Amino acid sequence: MSDNPATKADYIIVSNSEETTRKIGELLAGLLSPPSLVGLIGPLGSGKTRFVQGLARGCGVAEAAVISPTFVLIHEYPGKIPVFHFDVYRLKDSEEFLELGVDEYLQKQGICVVEWADRVADVLPPDRLDIELSIVDSSTRRVILRPLGEHYRQVAGKMISIWHHHSGANKC
Ligand SMILES: Nc1ncnc2c1ncn2[C@@H]1O[C@H](COP(=O)(O)OP(=O)(O)O)[C@@H](O)[C@H]1O
Ligand SMILES: [Mg+2]
Repeated sequence: MSDNPATKADYIIVSNSEETTRKIGELLAGLLSPPSLVGLIGPLGSGKTRFVQGLARGCGVAEAAVISPTFVLIHEYPGKIPVFHFDVYRLKDSEEFLELGVDEYLQKQGICVVEWADRVADVLPPDRLDIELSIVDSSTRRVILRPLGEHYRQVAGKMISIWHHHSGANKC
């Protein structure tokens, strides 16, 4: 367990507001080049959609465009870099996910982000950045980066240093 780099303390960011969670998403966007895949894991209300709002902002998407894709399972947000936002909460199984044509989206020149990625993990490409959000208290969320594959390990490493820089600079 403790050997797994994804559980190391250095992959953890603590967010103390919804805007902070957006900011984490926004900063991550700056490190991703299309095509990229981000999987979000965490219970209802943990901040997955807030994170996507920030990610989209970082991709030059108008913020108001980002909503919880409750009934529509895929939202496409045009921006400098297009964002393809999936929420698989209501899907029966991975088969249904594939039927949405995910493969095609994964090859597009954009950023794919999947809420509830753990539910379809068996059909997601093994190279991706999973991010686990958990609720600490009403305004605090723990954000754990779980990179899969060398490329995303590098992204996660950069993300952590950018975050330290950002939070250090905003302390005074
Ligand atoms: N640090 C935080 N980060 C993100 N959301 C937070 C935070 N603190 C409180 N919240 C609240 O938690 C909820 C998160 O909602 P949402 O992003 O839709 O979650 P999910 O998509 O995981 O269901 C919002 O009501 C938001 O105001
Ligand atoms: Mg959501």
